[in-house]
Amino acid sequence: MRYKFKMWVVVIFCLLPMAAFGFPVARCVNLANGLEAPFEGAWGYTIRDEDIHAIARDGFDTIRLPVAFSNGYTSGQINPLLLARTDHVIRTALDAGLNVILDLHHFRTLSQDPDRMSPMFVEIWRQLGAHYAGWPDGLMFELINEAHAKLNTRTADALFDKVYPILRARHPDRWIIVSGGEYSHRTTLSRLKRRDIRTAYSFHYYTPFPFTHQGASWVTPKPPERGPLSGAEVVEIQGHFADLARLDIPLLMGEFGVYHDKVSSEDRALWMGVTRRAAERFGIAWCHWGYRSGFRLVDPSGVWLPGLREALMDG
Ligand code: GLC
Repeated sequence: MRYKFKMWVVVIFCLLPMAAFGFPVARCVNLANGLEAPFEGAWGYTIRDEDIHAIARDGFDTIRLPVAFSNGYTSGQINPLLLARTDHVIRTALDAGLNVILDLHHFRTLSQDPDRMSPMFVEIWRQLGAHYAGWPDGLMFELINEAHAKLNTRTADALFDKVYPILRARHPDRWIIVSGGEYSHRTTLSRLKRRDIRTAYSFHYYTPFPFTHQGASWVTPKPPERGPLSGAEVVEIQGHFADLARLDIPLLMGEFGVYHDKVSSEDRALWMGVTRRAAERFGIAWCHWGYRSGFRLVDPSGVWLPGLREALMDG
């Protein structure tokens, strides 16, 4: 009897996603299209407390909260209304037992002209660092979303060098998340500077891009509709994760998903299941892009789309 009991413990332990390197994130979802829009609601989604409670109930441990703090930044100050709204969402999530990754999203001018915009980047993080001093450890900072154009892996690292000492002065133990250029492409991670032990390294995964972005109006040319993943594509995806695991650093797949407009839930579920399982197999934390709006998991009434919950949560 005793022996049987121990076996069960071992089996259950092996089935749970592992928190590698002490990084507390395993299964996360992005509250996308809310606070990174020009104003909340502009992209058809207003964050609701009930969404956050449902996320906590449904087996996620973390939300990533994209916020465009460059919107409404005037006279050297973050927009106080946006900050107050961000506080509310963070508090609601922390109270629901979730971790929160606060992500500085859609600061496009920083990528286009890092020399001119870097003082504003540093100032935003100085203000956020002061504001969130003393907040629970479940809050994490992600310094920039999808650096691209002139903000390459090297120039992004130089910016992180400026912000780290400012943040670490008040947040010595808080997890900070960084990523490389080319829209946080996985291949930039090997060139990204290694930082302290409370740093995780993020990449975004939308491969094959023409599959995951079918019907995406913001991509030009708009990828045409196509069939489900092929067997060769599945093998290719699995290979990418095996390569990533060799980096031996705390990794977060900070975004992945399939745009919901043209692709059936069944075809989305196949891609999501293959990708999520490949990540978990190698101890890589993940954060699905989209909850109730673009790349959605649930329909407008909050009910999971067919097969998607299983793709993210089962086996
Ligand atoms: C990036 C963009 C976001 C887009 C997503 C999928 O996160 O910032 O706007 O929806 O990728 O393309």
